[in-house]
Amino acid sequence: MSKKGSSAVFLCSNCGTDYPKWYGQCPSCKEWGTLAEYKVKKGKRSGQSISVADPTRLKDIAKSSHHNRIKSNIKEMDRVLGGGLLPGSLVLLGGNPGIGKSTLALQIVGKVKESALYISAEESDAQIAMRAERLKVDSDKLMLSGENQIEGIIQLIEQQSPTIIIIDSIQTVYSDMIDSLPGSVGQIRESGQQLLQICKEKGVTIILIGHVTKEGIIAGPRMLEHMVDTVLYLEGDDRYNHRILRSVKNRFGATNEVGIFQMQSNGLIEIENPSELFLKERSLDVAGSAIFPSLEGTRPILVEVQALVSNASFGTPQRNVNGFDLRRLSMLIAVLEKRIKVPMGAKDTFVNLVGGLKIDDPAADLSVIGAVASSALDKSISNDVVLIGEVGLAGEVRSVSQLEKRLKESESLGFTTAIIPKYGIKNKTGLVSKIKLQKIDSVRQAFDLLFP
Ligand code: TYD
Ligand code: MG
Repeated sequence: MSKKGSSAVFLCSNCGTDYPKWYGQCPSCKEWGTLAEYKVKKGKRSGQSISVADPTRLKDIAKSSHHNRIKSNIKEMDRVLGGGLLPGSLVLLGGNPGIGKSTLALQIVGKVKESALYISAEESDAQIAMRAERLKVDSDKLMLSGENQIEGIIQLIEQQSPTIIIIDSIQTVYSDMIDSLPGSVGQIRESGQQLLQICKEKGVTIILIGHVTKEGIIAGPRMLEHMVDTVLYLEGDDRYNHRILRSVKNRFGATNEVGIFQMQSNGLIEIENPSELFLKERSLDVAGSAIFPSLEGTRPILVEVQALVSNASFGTPQRNVNGFDLRRLSMLIAVLEKRIKVPMGAKDTFVNLVGGLKIDDPAADLSVIGAVASSALDKSISNDVVLIGEVGLAGEVRSVSQLEKRLKESESLGFTTAIIPKYGIKNKTGLVSKIKLQKIDSVRQAFDLLFP
């Protein structure tokens, strides 16, 4: 079947590994049915002579990489990146279509002092110029191009020598060497690899924009995530106009760091105090509401956990959750039923983290079980209380990480009481002064305080 001058490979759409033959299950990542055939033309890449770069002394690298971070001058962005963009790094910026990736990218290159090249095959130069006007980006160091063939892009980078390059989006870039459409796994892998190479060779910073599919992954290639140094996701909720920038991988900084923005008519605006935003429309004196000081990366953010428990009309009760793990909720409901004897078997339970925030932190357990119990018992939790603690199967409450940070944030937002795990804090930290600490070691103890 193979044509003259081209060879076939089978590429896994999940991990990007290639094989000379087809398998039903990818031998590397064990996913089923992910291998597809791609034809690679024998071009200049395979025939290239190898040039070996001189090795670099470790000391010299360490020295330079510390100071050279390019500040995007968007504080939220710089923090998520671990201090700024690192020269020679490849960054993937993913998110749903329309979430604001292009806007953010343009705002970044509009604020840096360095020269930048914005490559967009998704929008025309005129459209980008209009957006730039809206965002008040008038950098004379910013160049635009609509090139979408990777070989052309590489040539542009070599000719123009920009410091930062934005590829908007990686799904529109294609190579002549691959016999498939732009956006396919083979194309993305090839373009990604060529960009990675030039990025490291020239020490330029490249931001790849990638659309996320409905399944929640960057269309097709999870492998891009393995290839790049940093993976950022821009998330948001259709109902709220705030956006959360999250680092899920960062070779040069902490992961799970977040930046919070709001989409306004003149672009993404940084939110300095996210807790205020998330608690803005909080319900007071209502049963089924609890406040949890969550920690996003190094950043404390107070969120309202809402629960609604009602009689199930028929059959199996419904359990529905927004922003929290459903299985964890089921576990907490079981603890509530078995240990506290609150009948939950014939109840529908709904839990919602207000503001579209997603929390994957066991410290939220106590606030979730508290909100659920509050609704089930129809007793409200006092408005100035925060709840922190991981709940175990025996109904015990365990200590959590970074308690001081959570308490400080709660205190600064005017909360006066915190129900916390008994062994979570040393007595004389001196960090938290005004907030009253009520230390408990079981859910029952917490409930005795919450619902006297
Ligand atoms: P965009 O950056 O094009 O999204 P993506 O590149 O992720 O697909 O953002 C598109 C949305 O943002 C669009 O619905 C309009 C809105 N928007 C604003 O509200 N304010 C602005 O200043 C800009 C530029 C866009
Ligand atoms: Mg876009």
